[in-house]
Amino acid sequence: MSSPEALALLDLIQSHRITAVIYVAAQLGIADRLCDGPRSLDDLADATGANRAALARLLTALRTIGICRPGGGDRYALTETGATLAGAAQSSCKAWAIFEGQMLSKSWNGLLETVMSGKTAAQIIQGLDDSFDLMARVPENVRVFNAAMASLTRLVAADVLAAYDFNRFSHLLDVGGGSAELIGAILGRYPRMRGTVYDLARCAETATAHLAQLGLADRADFLAGDFFASIPAIADGVILKSVIHDWDAERSCAILQNCRQALPANGTLLLVERIMPTIPDCNELHRSHALSDLNMLRGPGGRERTEAQYRDLLGDTGFHVTSVTAAGRFAVIEASPAAG
Ligand SMILES: C[S@@+](CC[C@H](N)C(=O)[O-])C[C@H]1O[C@@H](n2cnc3c(N)ncnc32)[C@H](O)[C@@H]1O
Repeated sequence: MSSPEALALLDLIQSHRITAVIYVAAQLGIADRLCDGPRSLDDLADATGANRAALARLLTALRTIGICRPGGGDRYALTETGATLAGAAQSSCKAWAIFEGQMLSKSWNGLLETVMSGKTAAQIIQGLDDSFDLMARVPENVRVFNAAMASLTRLVAADVLAAYDFNRFSHLLDVGGGSAELIGAILGRYPRMRGTVYDLARCAETATAHLAQLGLADRADFLAGDFFASIPAIADGVILKSVIHDWDAERSCAILQNCRQALPANGTLLLVERIMPTIPDCNELHRSHALSDLNMLRGPGGRERTEAQYRDLLGDTGFHVTSVTAAGRFAVIEASPAAG
């Protein structure tokens, strides 16, 4: 009789195949083509230009992993999970599926060299200390990354808004705010608040277009700059989502010290980050945090931190933590400038 333990491990070992199947489905726009109703194999083969027999086998795999289901006759339909692979879905994972399949899984192939050396892919491959500089060499990579971050943040924003009351802020500055996804969601909920995204110039066009599309151009803007150099002192609140986890202690401190300088004495700093468990367990949440931590190790060189590590980092940079509130898989860490 086969060993259930070995079979379970084999499934884990082969799980990169699932990423590849979902990536191909995303690239072919399978969910986009099925979101208005079931379609036949011939129809999907015509629409995608894929080899009919090979596509049938991909669709079988998509059925086994819960993305497609039988749609009547020879047609295929989407499951509820599969519907989130469509680009136009409210909670779309399509951009992340493309980022994961096109960029991350290739980079993760080098995880062994990172674990052996403690260095990031950018340090090993190009001798570069900033992986965002490496990404900028291929504009398509910047586009894929920014779209993926926006899609993830769209999922998280609802949890953040449900968990935290932003009412006190008159002007919120989103440092490293990328495509303005989070500030757009917050300003949409708080109609008297002003908002600014501060990020590298390469995010300006997408962020500005997003804010205009949300009808927020009159109270939201984009400022280009380098958060290691300075952060503009224009707001009573500064928020950073998925920024500090990108960086090691030294560079995180540099960003937080600039936040401290930018904030008035009665201002508030908010970090939206994953919180690493103190005692990791074998469960989905802890696994997603630990895998994100390795993603930071291989990618930009940062890390996921425990609550105590965030408290230390903030204490070292002139803040004291006033609350930590769970927001889905993330948490909102609120901090005030320490006196003196
Ligand atoms: C992981 S993304 C997070 C984006 C956004 N906060 C979100 O959660 O969707 C990190 C962001 O930091 C920005 N960034 C990287 N280096 C920067 C720098 N030196 N100055 C300003 N922004 C920077 C990137 O362009 C990117 O938008």
